[in-house]
Amino acid sequence: MEKFIVHGPCRLEGEVVISGAKNAAVAILPATLLVKGKCHLENVPDISDIRAYCKILESLGSKIEYISKNELIIDNTDVDSAIASYDLTSKFRASYYLLGALIGRFDKVQIGLPGGCKLGARPFDQHIKAFKKLGAKVIVRNGNVYASKTEPLKGANIFFDVVSVGSTMNAILAATLSEGTTTIENVAKEPHIVDLANFLNSMGAKIKGAGTDTIKITGVKELKQKSSYSIIPDQIEAGTFMVAAAATKGDVLVKNCIPKHMEPITAKLIEAGANVEEFESSIRVSMDKRPSSISIKTMPYPGFPTDMQPQTSILLVLGDATGTIVETIWESRFQYTDELAKMGAEISAHGSTAIFKGVDKLYAAPVKAHDLRAGAAMIIAGLVAEGDTEVYDVQHILRGYENIVEKFGKLGAKIDYVNDGEEN
Ligand code: EPU
Repeated sequence: MEKFIVHGPCRLEGEVVISGAKNAAVAILPATLLVKGKCHLENVPDISDIRAYCKILESLGSKIEYISKNELIIDNTDVDSAIASYDLTSKFRASYYLLGALIGRFDKVQIGLPGGCKLGARPFDQHIKAFKKLGAKVIVRNGNVYASKTEPLKGANIFFDVVSVGSTMNAILAATLSEGTTTIENVAKEPHIVDLANFLNSMGAKIKGAGTDTIKITGVKELKQKSSYSIIPDQIEAGTFMVAAAATKGDVLVKNCIPKHMEPITAKLIEAGANVEEFESSIRVSMDKRPSSISIKTMPYPGFPTDMQPQTSILLVLGDATGTIVETIWESRFQYTDELAKMGAEISAHGSTAIFKGVDKLYAAPVKAHDLRAGAAMIIAGLVAEGDTEVYDVQHILRGYENIVEKFGKLGAKIDYVNDGEEN
């Protein structure tokens, strides 16, 4: 069984360098399939979701050269299969981008239904709607998704019913090599969507409006191979360290981040009483008092990111009065509050709202990482708490945070990674 033992309490101090964005990388890796050639990618995070993606690409015929752990050359010249096995794709959510990327290049695509963190219902209808609008046939059978086309995909007008990151990315991927013009409305505007569009445009795609409510794509016949592209820094990893700095009343310089992307998080940290200084590609966060209680409502970008909700909750747990979080994206994102309650937090969570009555201390307890971001929250709670907090199910955390133990270690935290080989 893998676990972290977080020895608390601890005040974080020093500098941390943020890795490439997971949620950009998991779209850009499959996007390379649109090129019959090589793509050189830099700032790729070395996390288990990316290693899983590389395995899938290799199973399709991609050749991957590892220049370093964060720099890859992916050669898709000889990709000859558009069938990705259930075993490989069901392990994580972002495998759904294979559909958008492969249906641009092949007539028949099959992937196992994507898995991923259990955050509540994770419907796929908007992805399917986009593929169908572009002329593909899509069916879901026996745990697999089958997409096919008998002629090239054709540009179309797509209006999403909900703002969805994955559907927006998949529609961009599928429309890039289509015939004619596609207009996609009510799209997501997250930084990783802009990064995917920038990557594809740098190879000759014609995508306009990424980062706004409407994206227009003029289909092109082919993309040209790319000499090198650097993935943007991870907004959520940067936010996690910013919040950890504030929660531990520390002083941390978060390097290699894009301050503009951090604004919704920066604003809440300032409300909670933290000092935040922005530089060109770094942010310094320090805190010298108990957090003021704040209220948060998660929203699509540029609103407060749901993926920062569990980590930021630690500031509300320690708040000087009562704070609230309203979760509007995922229906089951408050499972972590039961774990925090074991440490002395006073939280009442019902439906989409959690109310936090601030406490002045947390106490170590054995806790579970219910999902990737909940796991990061458990680490921050462990850093604040008196005693040794054991965090179980850390495989979720390792999916999305590169070298997390080492990075916290450099800031003065004492976290042991233990793998005793026993089954959970
Ligand atoms: N939705 C639908 N139909 C769809 C797709 C989505 O109704 O076809 C709904 C969802 O149920 C949800 C909302 O739309 O209520 C937003 O879902 P979205 O599609 O944006 O989520 P996603 O693409 O599956 C990505 C991230 C998540 C992050 C969400 C929201 C990746 C690989 N995953 O998921 O990241 O929480 O966007 O920002 O990019 C994480 O990194 O920890 C993580 C869970």
